[in-house]
Amino acid sequence: MCGIVGYIGTQAASGILLEGLRKLEYRGYDSAGIATILNNTIHCIRAKGKLHNLQEKLEGEQNPAQIGIGHTRWATHGKPEEYNAHPHTDTQRRIAVVQNGIIENYRELREELKALGHEFRSETDTETIPHLIAEEMKQVEEASTPHAGSHSPFFEAVRRAVNTLRGAFAIAVINADYPDELIVARQQAPLVIGFGQGEFYCASDTPALVPYTRAVLTLENGEIARLTPLGVEVYTFEGQRLKKSPRTLNWNPVMVEKQGFKHFMLKEIYEQPGVVRACLEAYLNDQWEQEELKIQNSKFKTQNSPIRLNLPADFYTDLQQIQIVACGTSWHAALVGKYLLEQLAEIPTQVQYASEFRYAPSPLTPNTLTIGVTQSGETADTLAALEMEIRRRQALAIDYQPRLLGITNRPESSLGDLIPNIIDTHAGIEIGVAATKTFSAQLVAFYLLAIDLAYHRNTLAIDQLEKLLNGLRQLPAEIEMILESQERYIEELAHNFAETQDFIFLGRGINFPIALEGALKLKEISYIHAEGYPAGEMKHGPIALLDAKVPVVTIAMPGTVFEKVLSNAQEARARDAQLIGITPMDEKDAEDTFDTLIPVPHVDEILSPLVTVIPLQLLAYHIAARRGLDVDQPRNLAKSVTVE
Ligand code: F6R
Repeated sequence: MCGIVGYIGTQAASGILLEGLRKLEYRGYDSAGIATILNNTIHCIRAKGKLHNLQEKLEGEQNPAQIGIGHTRWATHGKPEEYNAHPHTDTQRRIAVVQNGIIENYRELREELKALGHEFRSETDTETIPHLIAEEMKQVEEASTPHAGSHSPFFEAVRRAVNTLRGAFAIAVINADYPDELIVARQQAPLVIGFGQGEFYCASDTPALVPYTRAVLTLENGEIARLTPLGVEVYTFEGQRLKKSPRTLNWNPVMVEKQGFKHFMLKEIYEQPGVVRACLEAYLNDQWEQEELKIQNSKFKTQNSPIRLNLPADFYTDLQQIQIVACGTSWHAALVGKYLLEQLAEIPTQVQYASEFRYAPSPLTPNTLTIGVTQSGETADTLAALEMEIRRRQALAIDYQPRLLGITNRPESSLGDLIPNIIDTHAGIEIGVAATKTFSAQLVAFYLLAIDLAYHRNTLAIDQLEKLLNGLRQLPAEIEMILESQERYIEELAHNFAETQDFIFLGRGINFPIALEGALKLKEISYIHAEGYPAGEMKHGPIALLDAKVPVVTIAMPGTVFEKVLSNAQEARARDAQLIGITPMDEKDAEDTFDTLIPVPHVDEILSPLVTVIPLQLLAYHIAARRGLDVDQPRNLAKSVTVE
């Protein structure tokens, strides 16, 4: 996490940097800072806490500097205090650095540099970088031998420094003695360069660049670039010059505006019918039913799947098992995915936390498909797990290309660069830190993938397929109905939980992951302790937590486990818990069981996660908003977790 920005050109840099940081604040908001070069001196301003604190410090400043770097921090090494805020400088304050990532060998480097007389002023891993570059500058200037970017000892010093660093990092560096150069480098953390007319930008993510340019170049791992007012030169860490051209970004500015909603999270909850519709429209094959009808009476089916995911033919060949790696909310989407892939396409599927999987992977078999799910496309653990899967297959000379799949709303992200096969969920960028619309879109992607695989494997009869497809097409309207009819009611209901300290969420089968997601949404934005459980597990321990003060939110959708879930809810009722049911209207048994009902439309159990999650998102949102909390930027969290 952390967001970095940089600017070099003809305009005053600080306003541009501040604007860029505003667009990246979702990546961390423990502190912020900018450094510019003014009269051959580094001018560095930093502030603890959110960006507005930095902005207040900058107010009234007339700073004409035309080069600078900026940072918004999610603390890893060192407390969120001003002295740990980036940019960090070397002892002489000639070199300033911002970093996103973690420098793993910072302890040893710090000791070595201290022994050489460098003075450290923070507890961060990042501070080693300006000192290391200063040390390299001495060597380069003394040696004055030819080197890559031969006209620039500063570039060469940074290049040597990045070869000494271990870990995952993206950096931007300025040097008061080289006021016409901004050096950036990337190793396992995102960095994009923006091209203007005689001015150039860099940032951790594209939203910081789009107000200024749509021409962007994504730096790849092991690449370092030199930005001057004359242009951009890209090299490998070894110093070999690369030929690279910018691409043009597709961008809809509406996505990053609140449009009258109080919070981005509420806006994004309301975007869900549109997002589900867009994802379905992108991949449903409209001709399919007609083709099927034409050959209805023959024993053959069409050659075409009802779903067009544009995956290569060998993707479908001899598939024996699936493993999905993901974190957080994306991991919950993956659990729904497992249910669908196993029940519809009959493929054994495992879901793993990426952070666990990367250190204890399951034994690899040639016919395993590995799926990475991530809304940011940048989660370090998920990317590392997938990179490991590529390496493991390469070691066994297995063609990994058809056996890897990414699911994301950010196809232009690091995930998109890593994995050849991507399902773009069409959710667009999400600003609220708590994932909502990206989760629903990931679910849709899993429905489409499971149906597509079921079709190729012949595991579903045509009428079952048709029923599922029709059900999917109804979902946007069902979600709209919940938003229209229930939001006010849920807002009122949220008043009852002003003093509540613990919540339990129960679900079974395909709605168990939705119980987990409901609990995660509530705890991350309202700071109320919440647990999600498979309803049948409650009696094996968690039931001890229940009393009249604990609300139990139960998802009860008619289908295979409906009666079972109602019985589990009764067990909670017998312990005086307050029972809230997410259940369809006019279900007599459910009405008798729950104290409070949040009705949802009648939909097939297998499609129900896309409707049952909506009231849980609204409940979490309204409880947090009612408590006056910062819903879009909850404490300690970041939207894009680019550290391990
Ligand atoms: C919760 C949330 C996080 C993310 C997790 C993984 O609302 O957003 O739990 O789901 O950090 O992030 P991605 O999906 O970007 O890999």
